[in-house]
Amino acid sequence: MPLQIHRQIRPLRAQLHRAREQGQRIALVATMGNLHEGHLGLLRLAQEHAEQVVASIFVNPLQFGLNEDWDQYPRTFESDVEKLDAAGCHQLFCPPDAEMYPNGQAQQTRVICEGLTDILCGASRPGHFAGVTTVVAKLLNIVAPEVAIFGEKDWQQLALIRRMVADLCIPVKILGAPVARAADGLALSSRNSFITPEERPRVRQLHDSLCWIKTQIEAGNRDFAALETAARHQIEQADLRPDYIAIRAASSLAPPSPAERNLAILGALFTRAARLIDNVQVHLKD
Ligand code: PAF
Repeated sequence: MPLQIHRQIRPLRAQLHRAREQGQRIALVATMGNLHEGHLGLLRLAQEHAEQVVASIFVNPLQFGLNEDWDQYPRTFESDVEKLDAAGCHQLFCPPDAEMYPNGQAQQTRVICEGLTDILCGASRPGHFAGVTTVVAKLLNIVAPEVAIFGEKDWQQLALIRRMVADLCIPVKILGAPVARAADGLALSSRNSFITPEERPRVRQLHDSLCWIKTQIEAGNRDFAALETAARHQIEQADLRPDYIAIRAASSLAPPSPAERNLAILGALFTRAARLIDNVQVHLKD
């Protein structure tokens, strides 16, 4: 069955109601379009968990700050539709802004995960995560999937969504899909198209530095502050501007106690025209 495209909530819900009546499980893959291999990995995971796969494409204005790249964000709708169809996705939900925010953005009821919203990426992108959790809560309510898949590349986003779903008792299973990477380790991202050819060989430093910290921790180094500082210097040496490098407890994102066994090492840097993020996980044996 070819991909069905819905711009309105009502016909999408009617279609999903029919699928549910036939006993099908529903999976949601929420995206902002400009689909790459990373998104296709999310779709493959969705297909393992559900008979009916719904993708959404919505460049959510609520999660972009005033000086951010909402208007420049790459929009490639025709090729996205082709990719979704070829990947065997069943339903595409691509609403206009007025369908998602009928009362306007300023009046929209917001979902905020206290304690997780303003740290790390949230510190340099005020309002961003409130926009993410608000739109994801809406998408989960619209689609009512059994399972929803999000990329582990956006580790803080995934942690927020897990917290939101638990706090608001939303009946959905959230699954993280592993980071898809280019051959040199750079995490795939729609914003990679903003990296200049001159910067491209140097941006791998973010992943290299996060992996270096991981190796240090696995070798027994627990001076987290010194490791973060050293990694920042490595990035500066590559002539790039670090935003933050942080070693955190993997699920709460709190500064880790020495006893913490599951760590996330997260980082962000600025290139000339983009802000890139990445993370690696460390699971220490007892
Ligand atoms: O990760 C993204 O592409 C977006 O933040 C999401 C989850 C689709 C919400 O707009």
